[in-house]
Amino acid sequence: MHIVFAASECVPFAKTGGLADVVGALPPELVRLGHKLTVYLPLYPQARRHLPANLSTVVPSITIPFEYYNRFAAVIDGGQRAGVQYYFIDCPELFDRPELYGPKGGEYEDNSERFALFCRAVIEASKILGVPQIYHLHDWQSALIPVYLRNTYGNDPVFQHTSCILTVHNAGYQGWFPPRTTQHLLFPWDLFTMDKLEQYDTFNFLKGGLVYSDLVTTVSRKYAEEIRTPEFGCKLDDIFTRRGSDLRGILNGVDYSEWNPATDKNLPANFTPQDLTGKDICRNELVAEFNLKPLENSTPLIAIVSRFAEQKGFDFIAPIASALDQRNLALVVLGSGEGSYERFFRNWALAQPDRVGIHIGYNDALAHRIEAGADIFLMPSRYEPCGLNQIYSLKYGTVPVVRATGGLDDTIEEWDPATKKGTGFKFHGYNPSDLLAAIDRALAAYASPDVWQHLMLNGMSKEYSWTRSAREYSALYEEAAARRA
Ligand code: ADP
Ligand code: GLC
Repeated sequence: MHIVFAASECVPFAKTGGLADVVGALPPELVRLGHKLTVYLPLYPQARRHLPANLSTVVPSITIPFEYYNRFAAVIDGGQRAGVQYYFIDCPELFDRPELYGPKGGEYEDNSERFALFCRAVIEASKILGVPQIYHLHDWQSALIPVYLRNTYGNDPVFQHTSCILTVHNAGYQGWFPPRTTQHLLFPWDLFTMDKLEQYDTFNFLKGGLVYSDLVTTVSRKYAEEIRTPEFGCKLDDIFTRRGSDLRGILNGVDYSEWNPATDKNLPANFTPQDLTGKDICRNELVAEFNLKPLENSTPLIAIVSRFAEQKGFDFIAPIASALDQRNLALVVLGSGEGSYERFFRNWALAQPDRVGIHIGYNDALAHRIEAGADIFLMPSRYEPCGLNQIYSLKYGTVPVVRATGGLDDTIEEWDPATKKGTGFKFHGYNPSDLLAAIDRALAAYASPDVWQHLMLNGMSKEYSWTRSAREYSALYEEAAARRA
């Protein structure tokens, strides 16, 4: 089958979070299953760095009409990698900006126009470069494709047998815009109702995608259940519920060619379950890299690598920071995002320079070195659709402490000292004391080197490769295609 992915992020071209890892890793896996894969992305400056200097244009100009003017986009050939064809939508006035979505923690004011143009350009480009059987869309930024397809392009004969699958990587980001967006994007006003594009007087990209896609997926089974409830549905729980069995959970995999301590080129030393000596080297070098005091073997190194966003549960860390100061541990943090979290971690590191280290920013190589050098990985997320870092941690022998939500709950099993089964430590309540209790269970286990080694090896033996998930997507493509055959 010919599958077209449209997304706003993809490794190696542009990344702010796990969406990019998924859009980077899943298409090559689908090629291995015999599908033809095309990936469309916006041409950001970040992406240009991964493309040849003299770009080759395959479509010089597509006209995208808005209410009072037209915009024009070109399609750039990004070439083939691992059998996947990449195309970039080039519209410099919308995409040639320093950030993907907006200045630090914010949004560009014209994001509705940027991503509506992207969606429509993908549809128009497909008519020239190849109409797929399936559009596989990711998050709100590409969620208007099904809306256009079933309305604006409703009578276009070439799309009569094309199905849409929307994957929700994070229901917390929906693309909310003022009602007049309807008119600006040239949709008829009768689409602006609560059963279509409207969500409580906002124009909502994600909702449009949920209404008009043939099938909807999200990135773990647990999250697929959670989002049907008011607590996790981010005010879309009714539509998630309404989609019933059309909403499925397929767990993300990991690209082990990128995230494997045996071969990872970012590490000062490699290691395997059979020979863990390299992990000690990684740990010592990481401690030095963060300018912490050299650690005794008995002191565990806890790590955080994350976007700093409310979703990630860092509000719980401040209330237990002084309790953690009393414990025998060290902490390294890599992240960027909301200023309040950056300030909190920075101040903590200033107060405890020997044992708390912070690096503000985005640094992929450092993220790998942290996964390898840490003993414990902390993800206290309020909600987590899948979460990739805890899965990377397992492979690197870094024991996760996580909140039992979404993909964190699906991928981490609580350590049971009696049976010696389990891969990490989980807490359920969304409160600081449950988090502290889980950290304390981890510290108690760390105090016994035999127990800890067992836990590490349990995690390292887990496989979350893409092969299984790609098969599940493949079956879903068949199902969606059959509906429009
Ligand atoms: P989310 O997509 O919600 O941010 P995931 O756990 O799915 O969470 O994926 C996060 C991805 O982004 C991982 O690959 C992680 O290593 C990476 N990442 C997050 N923050 C940083 C950072 N500051 N520097 C480098 N990589 C980061
Ligand atoms: C989102 C989610 C994260 C998930 C990632 C990839 O950003 O927050 O949990 O792992 O998408 O699907």
